[in-house]
Amino acid sequence: MNLNEFRKLLNNFNDFPVQEKNKFIDRESDVDLLEKFSIFYKNKIVGIAGERGIGKTSLLNVISTQEEVTKIIISIEEKESKIEILIDLLFKLAENFIHSEYKEIKKTAEKVIKFIIEEKTEERSRKGGLSYFVDFNLGKVEKKSERFILLNVKEALKSLMKEVSEKYKLLLCIDEIDKESLHNFMVIIDSIKNAVRFENINIIISMPPVVYFNYLEGIITKNSSYSLENIFQEIIYLKPLSNEQISTIMRKKLMKYQDVLPADTEELILDYAMGNPRIAVLTVFNTLGRKKHTKPRLEKKDVLEVIMPVLIHYMENLDLTDKENQSLKLIAKLGTAFTKNSATNLLERNEFPQSTAYMVFDKLVEKKVLIEKNNNGKLYEFNKYLYVFFKYGG
Ligand SMILES: Nc1ncnc2c1ncn2[C@@H]1O[C@H](COP(=O)(O)OP(=O)(O)OP(=O)(O)O)[C@@H](O)[C@H]1O
Ligand SMILES: [Mg+2]
Repeated sequence: MNLNEFRKLLNNFNDFPVQEKNKFIDRESDVDLLEKFSIFYKNKIVGIAGERGIGKTSLLNVISTQEEVTKIIISIEEKESKIEILIDLLFKLAENFIHSEYKEIKKTAEKVIKFIIEEKTEERSRKGGLSYFVDFNLGKVEKKSERFILLNVKEALKSLMKEVSEKYKLLLCIDEIDKESLHNFMVIIDSIKNAVRFENINIIISMPPVVYFNYLEGIITKNSSYSLENIFQEIIYLKPLSNEQISTIMRKKLMKYQDVLPADTEELILDYAMGNPRIAVLTVFNTLGRKKHTKPRLEKKDVLEVIMPVLIHYMENLDLTDKENQSLKLIAKLGTAFTKNSATNLLERNEFPQSTAYMVFDKLVEKKVLIEKNNNGKLYEFNKYLYVFFKYGG
C-alpha cells in the first residue's frame, strides 16, 4: 500500500458521526419510525437514548424528511448552566432562520441574536459591578435578577418558535444536551417543552441511557421523579449493534484492503467493542496509526498493545482481594455465561465454604466484574475488559 492509500484508509476510521444514509448500517426500523414521526405527528417530543458512541448523532444525521418538513439539527455546546444551554439553543435556532425567506421570521431571528449579544455584553459588565440586564422587547433595563434573563430567554424562544411554526413544519433535532446529569437534562427539557408548544414543531432529543431507564420506571410505576412519560411521546433506545453489524461497518471502511484486518484480529476487536461502533472504529484507527504504510496488516498483538493499558488500568482499579482473584480464575473456566449456582458450586468444590462462595460472588457483582446478562439475574457474564483480558492476555 502506498502512503496515500494508507492515509485514505486511516481516514476512513476517523471517529465521526455518519453523514450519509448509505454509510449508516442498519437500524432501519428506527430510521423509519423517526421519518414517519416527522410527518405525521404534531407537537411531540421523541427521545433517542443510548450509551456514548452508539450512534445517536449519526441517526439524527441520516433521518430524511419529506420536502415540506424542515429538519434542523442543533448541537448544544454550552453545558455550564441551564441558562447557558438555553441561550446556546436559542442562538443556534435564530442563526438557522436569519436568512429565512419570510420577512417576519428573519426580523425576529435578528432580534433574538441582537438580544443575546447585548445580554452577553451586559453579563461581562455585570462582573465589573454594573447591573444592567437586557429585556428581549425593551432593551437595556436596570437592576433585575438572573431569573429575569431566564424568563427573557424563554420568551424569546417562544416568539421565534411561534413565528417559525406559522410558516414551517419543523423537525427540530437537539443533540448533546447533557451526557451525565439527569437533573440538568430535565430542567432543560421542561423549558423547551413550554416554549415550543406549537402544532407544526416536532422535536427529537438525544439523551443518555439514564433518562431512558427513568422513563421506563415512570411508565411502570406511574410515579417517577421526573414524569418523563408525560413529556416524551416515546423514547427509542439504541441497542448495541451485533458483531455482524460492527463487522459490516469495519469491512465497508476497509474498502479493497480487507486483508488489513484478518479474522482473528477482527474477533478481538469485536469482543472488545461489545456492540459499540465507536470503540471498534477507534481501536482500528489507533492500531492502524501505529503501523507502517508498507506493512499495514493488523495482528492481534498490535491491537492488544493498544488496548492493554485500558485493561491493566481496569484490573488495577478493581482492587480485588486474593479470594476474589482466585474465584475469578475458577469461574473463568465456566465459559462466557454462567449462573450464580454453577459459579458458587464450583467455588465450593474448590474448598470455599458455602457462605464465602456466595459472599465473594455477590462482591464481584457489586464491583461490576460479573454482570447480569439479561436483567433477570439468572445468567451472568464477565465484564468485557476482564473477558478480553482473560481470553487474550491474562
Ligand atoms: N449505524 C452505523 N453505521 C455506521 N457507523 C456508525 C453507526 N452508528 C455509529 N457509527 C459510528 O460510530 C461512531 C459513534 O457514532 P455517533 O457519534 O453517532 O455516536 P453518539 O451516540 O452520538 O455518541 P456520543 O454519545 O458521544 O454523542 C462514529 O464513528 C460513527 O460513524
Ligand atoms: Mg453524539
